[in-house]
Amino acid sequence: MDQYAAYDLREDDPYLIENSSCLKNLLGFTDTESLSSAEEQLTQITLAELVSDPPQATFNLKHLQAIHFRIFEDVYPFCGQIRKTEIMKGGKLFLPYNLIIKTADELFSQLHEEKLIQGLSPAAFGLRAGYYLGRINMIHPFREGNGRAQRVLIDQLANLNNFAIEWASISGDAMAVACREARISDPDGVKLQRLISLSTVSA
Ligand SMILES: Nc1ncnc2c1ncn2[C@@H]1O[C@H](COP(=O)(O)OP(=O)(O)OP(=O)(O)O)[C@@H](O)[C@H]1O
Ligand SMILES: [Mg+2]
Repeated sequence: MDQYAAYDLREDDPYLIENSSCLKNLLGFTDTESLSSAEEQLTQITLAELVSDPPQATFNLKHLQAIHFRIFEDVYPFCGQIRKTEIMKGGKLFLPYNLIIKTADELFSQLHEEKLIQGLSPAAFGLRAGYYLGRINMIHPFREGNGRAQRVLIDQLANLNNFAIEWASISGDAMAVACREARISDPDGVKLQRLISLSTVSA
């Protein structure tokens, strides 16, 4: 599952500490292992705070950026900022960074046209939420921390309907495989739709 864990290393990546494979960070770490462990602990706290005090739910790219800012403001200098480099996993590039704003604007317009997928059963909502999760994941607007940021946005969407998504019941590997398929071979994200649908409950 190595291809799902970390982004492929690129020598010209401006987000890395010079001559290192570690991301520049506000915590003073110079090795990825220590950074990842501290980052995970710190973000667990900020993610818990976001549950009771989320950013304004406008469901657009600025909203996703505000979520990312709040999760990572003490960790990464690029918190809340759209990436300015290409990134890839498993040898496959994510969306070119110069297409992020346009593609995200189109996607969030579609979500608003669909009335923020309100008025459905939990299972039907989960299918549509899975579709949008796959499309947001395909965009991958940030250099790191896309998974956590996009899950908070989907949580806020579920919350509009008094639903909740039981993320813990979806394994990281199952999520990554479904996300990869939605990005590469299955733009409707059928597998992701099913995963989210099975994990959506009335709150
Ligand atoms: N090869 C892949 N193609 C598409 N999406 C992938 C791939 N591998 C993992 N993902 C998805 O990318 C997201 C992780 O992105 P990123 O590492 O930027 O965020 P994170 O917040 O650190 O991750 P996590 O979701 O593990 O907490 C997850 O939703 C994961 O399922
Ligand atoms: Mg990550």
